[in-house]
Amino acid sequence: MSTDSFQASLERSNKIRADLEVNPSKYYMLTGDRPTGRLHLGHYFGSILNRVHMQDLGINCMVLIADYQVITDRDTTEHIQDNVYNMVADYIAAGIDPEKTIIYTHSAIPACNQLMLPFLSLVSEAELMRNPTVKAEQEASGHELTGLLLTYPVHQACDILFCKANIVPVGKDQLPHIELTRQVARRFNKRYGKVFREPAGILSDAIEIPGLDGRKMSKSYGNSIMLGATADQTAKLIKKSQTDSERTIFFDKENRPGVSALLTTAALCTGRTENDIAEEIGSSGAGALKAFVTEAVNAFLAPHRERREELLADMGYIKDVLHEGNRKANEIAQHTLDEVREAMGMVY
Ligand code: TRP
Repeated sequence: MSTDSFQASLERSNKIRADLEVNPSKYYMLTGDRPTGRLHLGHYFGSILNRVHMQDLGINCMVLIADYQVITDRDTTEHIQDNVYNMVADYIAAGIDPEKTIIYTHSAIPACNQLMLPFLSLVSEAELMRNPTVKAEQEASGHELTGLLLTYPVHQACDILFCKANIVPVGKDQLPHIELTRQVARRFNKRYGKVFREPAGILSDAIEIPGLDGRKMSKSYGNSIMLGATADQTAKLIKKSQTDSERTIFFDKENRPGVSALLTTAALCTGRTENDIAEEIGSSGAGALKAFVTEAVNAFLAPHRERREELLADMGYIKDVLHEGNRKANEIAQHTLDEVREAMGMVY
């Protein structure tokens, strides 16, 4: 993505973020996650809290579990049902209220998926080939460039446009997809008459929680604290995280990534600052720091973990939430597809 369009996206995002608090009823939010595994603290602080905030402001919210995107760069859907159910449980335990926010899976929304056909006609092969996020995903996964990996950003445009969302909270890596979505909307409207509006990507300024090794927290790096892990598993993971031999604890992201990642994790979970915590540990060393972080994380996550276990003990409820979310999403998608057919003259 060019610096120019990044700057434009950032400005648009900042302007809307200020307005959200004043005029929440103007906004329709859609965002989502791939159910490739379990949610971790990075998701919690990086996106879920923000979704709950938007929901509680009274913004119309939809949260998509993007199950078809799982097969963009992998060849199996093993564990997908389990991942989806666990995701629903984590969302609700974290405060996403299914009475207010529609939680759904796009594989269950045929009318949304059908938008893919006209939308594919609005983008060129060259545009698809240029998408930096697709390139990065292909490289990271070592997967061949399948038709789906190349075109899923168009499918993501279907996700966003079917419900006429105007705000899409995402990480920077998703901005090329938002840009493409805006183009699809613009081109459709120009060709067939105005049906869609151009959504804005909303960038968060939440501190990015580092993984236990100081890199970005990511399932694929094995450096993540899962929301649903037990207190014991969490303690073990923190215990084996890499630190250094300097006994005095202080925050220095560049030179002490391990120690600093632990301090940031504890800071987020306690609402204190990294320096404040570092001072308290003083020269007691990495062992003491790890004990502190373990205690902080487990105390912070205890209520969440309790709620998610209660929820998962009642699978009937989890399934009802999804069925109801899918039902509502289908209604919206059907309505939009009718408008699309009408605009295209495909009414028989
Ligand atoms: N591509 C997103 C991710 O990998 C998930 C996603 C799918 C999404 N459809 C979306 C995000 C629509 C925002 C809007 O995390």
